[in-house]
Amino acid sequence: MSAADGLTAIEAARELERLAREIAHHNRLYHSEDAPEISDADYDALVRRNAELEAAFPDLVREDSPSRQVGAAPAGHLAKVRHAAPMLSLDNAFADEEVVEFIGRVRRYLKLGDGEPVALTAEPKIDGLSCSLRYEKGMLVLAATRGDGTTGEDVTANVRTIADIPERLHGEAPDVFEVRGEVYMAKADFASLNARQEAEGGKIFANPRNAAAGSLRQKDAAVTAARPLRFLAHGWGEVSALPADTQLGVMQAIAAWGIPVSEDLQRFESGEALLAHYRAIEAKRADMPFDIDGVVYKVDRLDWQRRLGQVARAPRWAIAHKFPAEKAQTVLRAIDIQVGRTGKLTPVARLEPVNVGGVTVTNATLHNADEIARLGVRVGDRVVIQRAGDVIPQVLENLTAAEARAAYVFPDHCPECGSEAVREEGEVDIRCTGGLICPAQRVERLRHFVSRHALDIEGLGLVHIESFFSDGIIQSPADIFRLAEKRDLLLGRERWAETSVDNLLAAIDARRAPPLDRFLFALGIRHIGEVTARDLARRYTSWANFRTVVEQAVAARAAIQPTLAEPERKFALRRNKAVVAAIDTAGVGPEVANALLDFFEEPHNQEVVDAILAAGVSPADVIHETRASSVTGKTLVFTGSLETLSRDEAKAQAESLGAKVAGSVSAKTDLVVAGPGAGSKLKKAGELGIPVIDEAEWAKIVAGS
Ligand code: IVH
Repeated sequence: MSAADGLTAIEAARELERLAREIAHHNRLYHSEDAPEISDADYDALVRRNAELEAAFPDLVREDSPSRQVGAAPAGHLAKVRHAAPMLSLDNAFADEEVVEFIGRVRRYLKLGDGEPVALTAEPKIDGLSCSLRYEKGMLVLAATRGDGTTGEDVTANVRTIADIPERLHGEAPDVFEVRGEVYMAKADFASLNARQEAEGGKIFANPRNAAAGSLRQKDAAVTAARPLRFLAHGWGEVSALPADTQLGVMQAIAAWGIPVSEDLQRFESGEALLAHYRAIEAKRADMPFDIDGVVYKVDRLDWQRRLGQVARAPRWAIAHKFPAEKAQTVLRAIDIQVGRTGKLTPVARLEPVNVGGVTVTNATLHNADEIARLGVRVGDRVVIQRAGDVIPQVLENLTAAEARAAYVFPDHCPECGSEAVREEGEVDIRCTGGLICPAQRVERLRHFVSRHALDIEGLGLVHIESFFSDGIIQSPADIFRLAEKRDLLLGRERWAETSVDNLLAAIDARRAPPLDRFLFALGIRHIGEVTARDLARRYTSWANFRTVVEQAVAARAAIQPTLAEPERKFALRRNKAVVAAIDTAGVGPEVANALLDFFEEPHNQEVVDAILAAGVSPADVIHETRASSVTGKTLVFTGSLETLSRDEAKAQAESLGAKVAGSVSAKTDLVVAGPGAGSKLKKAGELGIPVIDEAEWAKIVAGS
């Protein structure tokens, strides 16, 4: 009988949360404090129980689960390693048009002439886990998993057991060369491993990727040695020198050093040829010896890769063209309505459990009321669902004829607080109007605030937030940072002892100076996702700057058309470009600017933010990694057309030199870079006596001469 037998999903969720917290706690004691409280055998028992529960309730596997191998922060008893160069991820394209658009973006960014081809490499996207292999003087010295991209786990001993990975590179290699690629398990090896595990009563793996991850991240390298792992290189990290100046050239050198590289890696000069290669790989996908989930395209010229750089965590010079999602049929059992942190009502399909590409799916999103109407779904209908990669499964098609049964009626009141639910003009979503009186929205905001990509407070997960909220211990984000005042109350709660309370308080204290971008993201403002939050943080660099600009814009907006009644006033404001201009110059666009102003205009939100700050939180300033130059600390304006650079690239160059780029010339401008066709800005610079240079002189500043 499995240890998970007899548990309800709620009980299992609670236990998984407790296990995630406990295992994280023991990891910390073991690694950071060198003071383990429990034996290795007891630790392994916790990890095993976590795995058993996850196997019994695959839907409940947590973001922060100790067993999450790919893209998760390091867990388990492996030492942490900080990557010398971050391990990036990739943007995805699904349709051919998105690939064409990607090539267009590259061309525009590099400002390539019409006749100039962009060569790209194409190779399969292997469904494994990425690993960085560091060679010094040709010898393997360190191997690390990706982890969160910045810090991974040391798997050197384990990697030394993989036959594909040489201890010493063949021939001449640079002094330092980090080869990056995918550790994976071939389909046939996976099948025989599972057969062996079954015979021996061991763990059965859901798919080759999980098997590869579970096999690599072992404390005991002897276990890894007994598992048939393989490796395919797809790139590199820190290097002291490069053996070629193209992607293909470097990959060929890596192959010559004795590390496997995909047989399907090729270079193409046109979008059509690239897409033809994609089709060819897709056609033979089922016959390939390992799982792949798409084709990766990379700009071949490395000087262009360098110029293109990266946005957030993905390079501008590469994209993953994913294969279409996997589909399955099942029955719609119920439609539940979930209330998100911004009040959005999302219909969720509860399904007869069905296996889609190795994963059991029980829920799928129905997106919104329009989608339900489009599909014409009602409870009891047979539906087609699809699952693509890590995205939430969705209902694709309804197979039951729309006979005379009544259509589904979307609720007009919030199922959580009973407030009216409305659909604003031009919006697809229906929202609860209850705001912060709606408990669902308050809990969701709290959950979002502490979540992994926001403040990331260890040990304060969903179950705790809910119970602390319903017991009145935490009502708003600021209460979290005043929890120490309620220490006695916490100690009085079931299952909370001195150590666990102290751990929680310490985890909270560890987040009192969150990076500005995480703080902005944590506030849960509409349209401010992680990437936008990072852009804002980079632009404003400090909370004080950010707040000043937002407050000025809020004041400017308040001064406009105060006589109009709502919602006409709001409508007029949204369209008033001048009002958002102050924020808009940060390049965030009117939608984000309006969302920021809507948020900070609301007195209650200001109070919530002020209370967080008053409770002892001060967002950390952004420190740009910049190169000192004659323009460091200066404010620049680009005007006219630039011949060799796009505006985006010029701006990125200026920022990397520590300069600010403004949209208009004023007394605060230090330098104007003018190209042909410059007009009023150039004239104004002349009037104000601001120095003006041309693009060639700018290029010299960038080159550092
Ligand atoms: S290139 C800077 N190429 O996919 C670019 N990645 O979704 C970094 N992956 O983290 C990756 N096959 O683990 C690249 N041929 C391939 C790949 C590949 C699999 C993985 C890699 C990466 C993830 C991003």
